[in-house]
Amino acid sequence: MTTILRLDSSIKGAASVSRKLLDRTQDKLIAAHPDARVVTRDLSVGVPAIDGDWIGAVFTPAEERSAEQAEIAAYSDALLEEVRAADILLIGLPVYNFGVPAQLKSWFDHLARKGETFNYTEAGPEGLLKGKRAIVVLSSDGTKIGSEIDFASGYVRHMLGFFGITDVQFVAADAMVFDPEATVKAAEERIDTLAA
Ligand SMILES: Cc1cc2nc3c(=O)[nH]c(=O)nc-3n(C[C@H](O)[C@H](O)[C@H](O)COP(=O)(O)O)c2cc1C
Repeated sequence: MTTILRLDSSIKGAASVSRKLLDRTQDKLIAAHPDARVVTRDLSVGVPAIDGDWIGAVFTPAEERSAEQAEIAAYSDALLEEVRAADILLIGLPVYNFGVPAQLKSWFDHLARKGETFNYTEAGPEGLLKGKRAIVVLSSDGTKIGSEIDFASGYVRHMLGFFGITDVQFVAADAMVFDPEATVKAAEERIDTLAA
């Protein structure tokens, strides 16, 4: 059975472009994998920023954690388990202020744990979440994907790769301000041509 983990982070609700395009991507994958299990996590509702308490919690051995630390670590662990269990990650990437939404950044922060998602070896960092595929749907008004003011797509690709997820495809409805209809249509066509 294929497990799909869908992560939305748009704060625009029903007006979100990335959500609509993720819907289309999800429908396509389900058509190809009718037995797929879809797990959804809407990051827009908020992801607590990591802080000193978080460091204390996740780097304290489980059996030595206080009740408060156990609660903090349980949230991080739940995010991690969702990714571990997934075969395919569907990630909505609305560009906000030239970068990734703060909640998506926080999601990566919770996952970036040495010994869980990466390790350092003599040859350099090694990602531990191998064998997964990710499809990232980027939407933006003026920022062209891959341009020098796009601080979103390269960051997401790097973080996924740092965790060992190197099979990453981007769908871009970028720079929509110029011709939104044509841009969204091109993104839809790109989704339709993705391998299921
Ligand atoms: C707070 C905020 C910041 C934004 N910053 C940018 C930006 O830096 N560059 C850009 O091209 N578009 C920017 N936009 C436009 C969004 O990228 C655009 O609305 C896109 O559709 C967002 O994806 P979504 O519809 O899934 O939320 C911003 C929108 C919001 C709400």
